[in-house]
Amino acid sequence: MKARMINSHVSSVGAVDWDRRLFDSLIPLPDGTSYNAYLVRGSEKTALIDTVDPAKRDVLFENLKAFPKLDYLIAHHGEQDHSGEIPGILAKYPAAKVVCSPKAKGILIDLLAIPDDKFIVVGDGQTLSLGNLTLEFVHTPWVHWPETMSTYLREDKILFSCDFFGSHLAQSEVFVTDEGRVFEAAKRYFAEIMMPFRTAIQSNMTRLKDYRIDIIAPSHGPVFNRPAMILEAYRDWISDTPKNVAVIAYVSMHGSTERMVSHLVSALAERGVTVCQFNLADTDIGKLAESLVDAATIVIGTPAVHVGPHPKAAYAAFLANALRAKAKYASIIGSYGWGQKIVEQLAALIPNLKVEVLSPVICRGLPRESDFAALDSLAAAIAQKHAALNLV
Ligand code: FEO
Repeated sequence: MKARMINSHVSSVGAVDWDRRLFDSLIPLPDGTSYNAYLVRGSEKTALIDTVDPAKRDVLFENLKAFPKLDYLIAHHGEQDHSGEIPGILAKYPAAKVVCSPKAKGILIDLLAIPDDKFIVVGDGQTLSLGNLTLEFVHTPWVHWPETMSTYLREDKILFSCDFFGSHLAQSEVFVTDEGRVFEAAKRYFAEIMMPFRTAIQSNMTRLKDYRIDIIAPSHGPVFNRPAMILEAYRDWISDTPKNVAVIAYVSMHGSTERMVSHLVSALAERGVTVCQFNLADTDIGKLAESLVDAATIVIGTPAVHVGPHPKAAYAAFLANALRAKAKYASIIGSYGWGQKIVEQLAALIPNLKVEVLSPVICRGLPRESDFAALDSLAAAIAQKHAALNLV
């Protein structure tokens, strides 16, 4: 993809990766992604904001072909999908200086062996003049690494936010064209990358509240020229209050757990609780993570495998724990044949979750009337807890 203009002196020179289907060998990318780099041309100096994943280096260098001089390379973040081509850029532009936060300098030296004398380290709020344009550096740590900063282009009121406000979404247009589609992709991205750092992001949102921001240009996905949409969404996602949603993630081997899940889903729906059901035998973990942004209750359903939970159920518990979901309640349902320690073993996997564990329902073999009655009681307890919190 050729460079795309943000305005007369700011262009998007990074790469759209339509075909990538997995990130970090873990995260599914159903809609591809992009590695956004931005060129900002002032009257005296030129700055490149971030680079691209090395797999797409040719696109970046093609887009920079017309620019023989580069003064600054702003490195927001050490992760290689943005920093990976810093050595390549420094080889092409030997006079360029890498501008980054103090923590980023150490990370970039360790990960990319960049020489010490190439750096200009900037503090929070420090500025850099490009002549008629001013870059202000805003430290926004833990989105999702500790060193990350953003850059505010004062004259144009553009916030270059790196991963913050990003989305894994490949599209040909530089700006958001379909807010619903971008909302979905950005929420999924938030869930996978940002959710464990909700508290730090709350501080970053406070840090940004006095800036007038007309455009948000993240390092993945489309550029927001109506930033209120993504700012409002983030305020909701980082809030401590969940929604009236129960996530039921389950796996079944011979049908018993599946019958229990089916009963519980209906019982919750009858009581006005929205349910997101995931069969872990074949599920998109990105969708599961996204559902955890809102969930007030998480229920894991599993049969016993060698007395413990099914490994796929253990993985779902591990994931919810790692993402530090904001859920307030949890429970476990499932079945066993000859013995089980499902509840103890799953409960041990979720120390990060600040949840009240509601009475588990574990049956031997096929669920019977008494088990269905216990599931009705669990549904009633969940609905009652949600109502007590006034969740909507
Ligand atoms: Fe897109 Fe954390 O790198």
